[in-house]
Amino acid sequence: MPNGKLIVVSVRPPVSVHRDGDGRWEAKPSPGGLATALRGVSERRSFTWLGWPGVYVAEGNDGLADRDEIRERLADAGGVVPVFIDQSDFEGFYEGFSNGLLWPLFHSLPERAVYDREQWKAYQRVNRLFADAVAEVAEPGDVVWVHDYQLALVPLLLRRRGLQCAIGFFLHIPFPSSDAYRTLPVREALLEGMLGADLLGFHSYEYVSHFRSSCLRVLGLESEPETIYMPMHAARLNVLPIGIEPGELEALAESEAAALEFDRLRERFEGRKVIAGVDRLDYTKGIPQKLLAFEELLATHPELREQVVMVQVASPSRTGVAEYQDLKREVDELVGRINGKYATTSHVPLVYINQHVERDRLTALYRVADVALVTPVRDGMNLVSLEYIAARTEPGTLILSEFAGAASCLAGARLVNPHNPHRVAEILADALANPPSKIAFEQMVDFVYSNTSGVWAQRFLARLENTYEELELGVRHFDIDNPQIRDAIEGAQKPLLLLDYDGTITPHAQVPEEAVPSEHARDLLRKVAELGVAYVVSGRPAVVLDEWLGDLGLGFVCEHGLNIKDPGGEWPEREPIDRTVLDEVVRPLLHDFVERTPGSKLERKAASLAWHYRAADPKFGAWRAKELHALLDERLTGQPFSVLVGSKVIEVRHNDMTKGRAASELLERHGGTCDLVIAAGNDHTDEEMFDALARSGHHSVMTCRVGSRNTRGQFHVESSAEFMSCLRRIVEIWSARGA
Ligand code: ADP
Ligand code: G6P
Repeated sequence: MPNGKLIVVSVRPPVSVHRDGDGRWEAKPSPGGLATALRGVSERRSFTWLGWPGVYVAEGNDGLADRDEIRERLADAGGVVPVFIDQSDFEGFYEGFSNGLLWPLFHSLPERAVYDREQWKAYQRVNRLFADAVAEVAEPGDVVWVHDYQLALVPLLLRRRGLQCAIGFFLHIPFPSSDAYRTLPVREALLEGMLGADLLGFHSYEYVSHFRSSCLRVLGLESEPETIYMPMHAARLNVLPIGIEPGELEALAESEAAALEFDRLRERFEGRKVIAGVDRLDYTKGIPQKLLAFEELLATHPELREQVVMVQVASPSRTGVAEYQDLKREVDELVGRINGKYATTSHVPLVYINQHVERDRLTALYRVADVALVTPVRDGMNLVSLEYIAARTEPGTLILSEFAGAASCLAGARLVNPHNPHRVAEILADALANPPSKIAFEQMVDFVYSNTSGVWAQRFLARLENTYEELELGVRHFDIDNPQIRDAIEGAQKPLLLLDYDGTITPHAQVPEEAVPSEHARDLLRKVAELGVAYVVSGRPAVVLDEWLGDLGLGFVCEHGLNIKDPGGEWPEREPIDRTVLDEVVRPLLHDFVERTPGSKLERKAASLAWHYRAADPKFGAWRAKELHALLDERLTGQPFSVLVGSKVIEVRHNDMTKGRAASELLERHGGTCDLVIAAGNDHTDEEMFDALARSGHHSVMTCRVGSRNTRGQFHVESSAEFMSCLRRIVEIWSARGA
């Protein structure tokens, strides 16, 4: 792929603006982890960052001059392009939908989530603004990287615009279990929005697996561990925990300000053990839980009361949201209660700082702290735990909540359940009584230094570009009006069509018997059969094909290739297949699966047996299907039967029956005379047909997969409805030529 520019999209860019004393706009850096992570990348390729400038500007002509000035300031200060948002939209979008609903829900606290339709509308509008802004700067070959839950709709909005750009999305917060996620009133739109990306990044395997479950339960999309196939594109899923830049932190820790602060703190806490907590004042951070554990420590270990001090820094955050105001009150009260109970005239056990602290001073606190206590009830990753490791010159003990994404990366941390204050207090007491483990600390140092934020960004972008090349540029959309495709169709005098039935000519029905062809579809097929040689190549039994389509002049392949009937011909006699294995080995097993999987059913055909699970619980059905597949593989060893995995169906069929064999046979019959073969189908069985056609060496073949890009065919379409409208266009082209 061409090395185009990188477009980063996040609500908070690394520079924002404010008015200076003279009323002029001034740019102010607000570097976060993301800006640091992308610094290396931005030095190597051209780079644009789209984000909210941090201020509201009057709409229309009144704000024109301001907007121009802000644009200039931000461009000069680091390639930032502002996305202006008016105040009421911003509040509904940010404080409302993003932080009042998505934030608690995604942190598995659905009882705190408040849904408001107006805020959802604001969220959609703002996401559209961001997508518009990207579309304005994007050129073919660029790479767009969208960040976080506030902009979950942007990937799909971009895809719909047909930009020829790789689209990446990284979720910096957790993804909740499907049970919690399903409570979201707009659950479909949000998942579809994210799935618009070519690559989705998450901090941990747990979040990926929750995301996959939600896609299955909410959208009915089955997935592979790393890929979700949708009708029109595929999205890759990646576990890629973010890091920090330890070198930068070390440098800060060695600054003069940090050294001064370090001396001050050491002197102040002389002879005492120090526990540090550093968090945004957010209810996901488990600050009350941490304070309760500290209180328990002081209650159960009187000897420690004057020997230990805890410094808790909690920077104010999202102060406009009611939940955060409540939390502030709760923490203030707890701090008062603990100090009220345990402070003496010479010692205050809990130092609480409800302010933003400069980073250099934070590093001094990290260095002084014997123990870092990090106890979120949920946290996407948690960078404070990594910063503690990087800032230290000597080993220290990290006590870390198992509910932080970082817990799956930092094997040397002492993991705790923050909801159990008694146990956290015990571990704290143990950590204070014993020196930190050097080995455990070194393990954490290794992770922090090898998984830096720069490495994280490079890995994400490299994977995104590979994914884009592999998935987007491989299979083409079956666009009949594309001149190349159209010319080939127009030029064909004797076409041969091989068309699958279920999912291709008709959409899938919940129960197979219900998928009767519409009069519309029958008319079209009749015309197709008049204009060329056409076979319906199906897994259905012969009687069903005859009953539904027998009067249209079509040929048929039944039961995946068991038998072939030519147009206008009869079904030839064929020797019946020996069903002993099917009836004695396979049938009891499938029967057992029907009983144990509510909603599933068994279908008997002349030479096969099929277990359908479309109506079963999707996750349970897919899980059972894997189990059944493995059992069948085992029991059919050495037998002339094999397992076929279809769309929500597991079928055991005789080895003589494959659509591949049928396609080869039909090419032998017609290949010499036909000048174009068009084959279409929607599942694995049809891929065998595509393979056979590719191998045949016929000079003009078009193979089209319906409903997925995951194909060895050349083309794809989104649905059977789209395929049928392609077929209608083809018929129009051929009919016009004959007229
Ligand atoms: P979150 O992204 O939810 O805020 P993280 O732990 O991943 O949580 O990142 C927080 C970042 O903010 C860290 O870089 C940390 O140093 C910084 N930070 C947290 N609390 C404070 C504070 N009170 N003062 C200054 N910086 C803080
Ligand atoms: C988390 C989110 C970020 C967000 C940050 C601070 O780290 O993942 O997207 O920017 O918290 O929240 P704030 O609301 O202050 O931007």
